[in-house]
Amino acid sequence: MTPEQFREAGHDLIDWIADYRAGIGDGPVLAAVEPGQVASSFAPSPPSESVTMTSVLDELNDVIVPGITQVQHPMHYGWFPSNASLSSVLGDMASSGLGSLGISWESSPALTEVEQVVCDWMRQLCGLSERWSGTIHDTASTACFVALLSARERASDHAQVSGGLRDPDRPLTVYCTAQAHSSVRKAALLAGYGADNLRVVDVDPQTYAMKSDDLAAMIESDLAAGAKPACIVATVGTTGTTAIDPLAAVAAIARQHDCWLHVDAAMAGSAMLLPEQRHLFDGIEEADSLCWNPHKWMGTILDTSLYYVADPEHLIRVMSTNPSYLQSAADGKVVQYRDWGIPLGRRFRSLKLLFHLRLDGIESIRARLRRDLDNAQWLAAEIEANPEWDLVAPVPFQTVCTIHRPLGADGMPLNGEELDTHNRAWVERLNRTGNAYLTTTVVEGRWIVRVSIGVESTEREHVEALWALMQTTADETALSVRPE
Ligand SMILES: Cc1ncc(COP(=O)(O)O)c(C=O)c1O
Repeated sequence: MTPEQFREAGHDLIDWIADYRAGIGDGPVLAAVEPGQVASSFAPSPPSESVTMTSVLDELNDVIVPGITQVQHPMHYGWFPSNASLSSVLGDMASSGLGSLGISWESSPALTEVEQVVCDWMRQLCGLSERWSGTIHDTASTACFVALLSARERASDHAQVSGGLRDPDRPLTVYCTAQAHSSVRKAALLAGYGADNLRVVDVDPQTYAMKSDDLAAMIESDLAAGAKPACIVATVGTTGTTAIDPLAAVAAIARQHDCWLHVDAAMAGSAMLLPEQRHLFDGIEEADSLCWNPHKWMGTILDTSLYYVADPEHLIRVMSTNPSYLQSAADGKVVQYRDWGIPLGRRFRSLKLLFHLRLDGIESIRARLRRDLDNAQWLAAEIEANPEWDLVAPVPFQTVCTIHRPLGADGMPLNGEELDTHNRAWVERLNRTGNAYLTTTVVEGRWIVRVSIGVESTEREHVEALWALMQTTADETALSVRPE
């Protein structure tokens, strides 16, 4: 494709994206396809002829769009807000258009230095101190893996460059709660700690936050048994209920035992952009590493996960390989981001953040976050005022956790498995309509419903519409199973 052909096709694509986004609220939220349906729309063998841009756009419309669950839809309340602000989409396009190769500072000085600048701007916007140095990973899962590798190497005095992890009598232990994201367990296993050495700390039954006393007791008992506590992963904004682990107390325990503290604020970290919310992150300055995803609630398109460390030298020592073919005269004078993570080649990811900040402006982003917090409080108040509904967790951010508790056949409110079945059933029924989308999850053994508010286009009227839908769908579901 020549630049002139690109210009023409590119205009068509931009028009297509603009129309698509403008009309997203008119279609269903949930992808209405069966497993295998999208794949079977394609010929089994690869295309041998080129086609026009018009045919490619037809394929997008006819085959691909129906196979997408529309997380940019204003009635999407599932998982977490996975916003993809159009300003950051332009940054993504600029990144692709530049086609830069980020394997060293020399291969694209601007790629490295804009990432440094933007990470530092984001640090300042979050009210974090100057002790933090940042980089952009693809996801919080990668960031957590890097943190656990760093913790492992600190606790083992850099065993990776000698015998590796070989001492089963003095295992390295990792601590988190059952509410921590599954990526923590995955990272601990991949980093070689072993499932037997991953400790699950108790949570407070009301807030679902880590009990720091339980953490301290577990560490003491591990030390007594000869283990070496290596890493605590604390979460601000857990996946299920957006619980907040008590960072200050956890950090004091981490310091006492020279244990690495990683803070996973993947979803809720956006709230640090709001000065009035920063008290929820008290203690974060004591951590060794922290991660949050602008590609969630803040709305910079995937994959933009900020990872900050207090000691970049340690990170570099763990991650650096420095082969001869990558050495250059700039070494020692510049940041080499390949030594801050796992991949060698990197995209110009910082352009997504740069465009987002420049074109939307931080104050409009902050206003949107505040709107979402208000909407969550509004819904929480509606739920609390309705005797058939329970609010099942505090609402510090934009996620509201609830269950519908109708009367059962015996005239008593449903309980136990019946209650679980009912709540899963009405959510499934609501999701199938395509009018809205919610997710359920198990918290401390019970199924609950999560309303994750925060899609860029979700206004109060949408949350009101959702609440009305929740009530009618839950009532209809209860009636359909209640005997006459
Ligand atoms: C608290 C928390 N941590 C980590 C993750 C994983 O994020 P990523 O998809 O960037 O790996 C999530 C995703 O929902 C999350 O909620």
